[in-house]
Amino acid sequence: MRLKDKIALVTGGARGIGFATASAFLKEGATVVIADINQQGAEEAARRLDPHLKHVKALAVNVADPQSIAAMMDAIVSDYGRLDLLLNNAGVGGNIPFLETSLEDWNRIIGINLTGAFLVAQAAAREMVKSGGGKIVNIASLSGQRGGNGRSAYGAAKAGLELLTKVMAVELSPHHINVNAIAPGAIETEMAKFAHDEATRKAYHYLIPMDRYGVPSEIADAAVFLCSDEARYLQGHTLNVDGGFLAAGLMFGPNKQLPNT
Ligand SMILES: NC(=O)c1ccc[n+]([C@@H]2O[C@H](COP(=O)([O-])OP(=O)(O)OC[C@H]3O[C@@H](n4cnc5c(N)ncnc54)[C@H](O)[C@@H]3O)[C@@H](O)[C@H]2O)c1
Repeated sequence: MRLKDKIALVTGGARGIGFATASAFLKEGATVVIADINQQGAEEAARRLDPHLKHVKALAVNVADPQSIAAMMDAIVSDYGRLDLLLNNAGVGGNIPFLETSLEDWNRIIGINLTGAFLVAQAAAREMVKSGGGKIVNIASLSGQRGGNGRSAYGAAKAGLELLTKVMAVELSPHHINVNAIAPGAIETEMAKFAHDEATRKAYHYLIPMDRYGVPSEIADAAVFLCSDEARYLQGHTLNVDGGFLAAGLMFGPNKQLPNT
């Protein structure tokens, strides 16, 4: 029960990494607000985790819309009086070649993945300042650390979120708020099913030393750690949970054939 009695907000919690983390937070004793643009999905997710909705609440939010975020925060504060933990997770995939990325594509992906994350983090941090502290975990991506095919807008948004994590860590330290990020590698979720074609999957298998995709619970476990007291001296850090992708250099051997061999 590492998160006993904490009030936690998980954006994009209706499915995937967000849902797995909401489930892990609940098991660790937190009360969890699942907020998602898919309101029905959020409600179904909440009931799946807690059929009587005693420790889980579902809310609708569009993280790209400041008014929607304000309404979400009002609902949380009116129900619980404070917010202790934020998993800043809502996001959309993007796999569009640079030369074909329209301004509309760019603005949509940046608007949700970077501006949306900024707006939610700011609203959450303002509440945490009032109550004397908290923990924020931003969900970045390996795509924000390496130049991958089709990841211009998505990668730029996630790289920006990693830097924002550092600035927030600096400015929020005096308020006893820990701000860290997780950079997931390739994780088997609906988003990956949409964004990863066969060529992408083959390339990932080659580039991941552990030679497999991760599963959402592996990100959730890292998020629990970062939100627990055990991580109290971690600040402004990005934790890669990626099967070794970032660490890898020259790789060869029986399980490391180049994709086209
Ligand atoms: N799956 C991966 O391989 C992977 C890798 C690196 C980073 N990530 C990041 O992890 C996070 C979760 O990804 P996932 O794979 O679980 O994706 P997913 O598509 O399965 O889930 C994303 C959730 O966010 C919600 N959402 C989308 N736009 C929203 C908005 N504007 N407002 C509120 N909610 C919104 C969706 O409805 C959905 O429930 C994202 O930030 C993603 O960029 C995923």
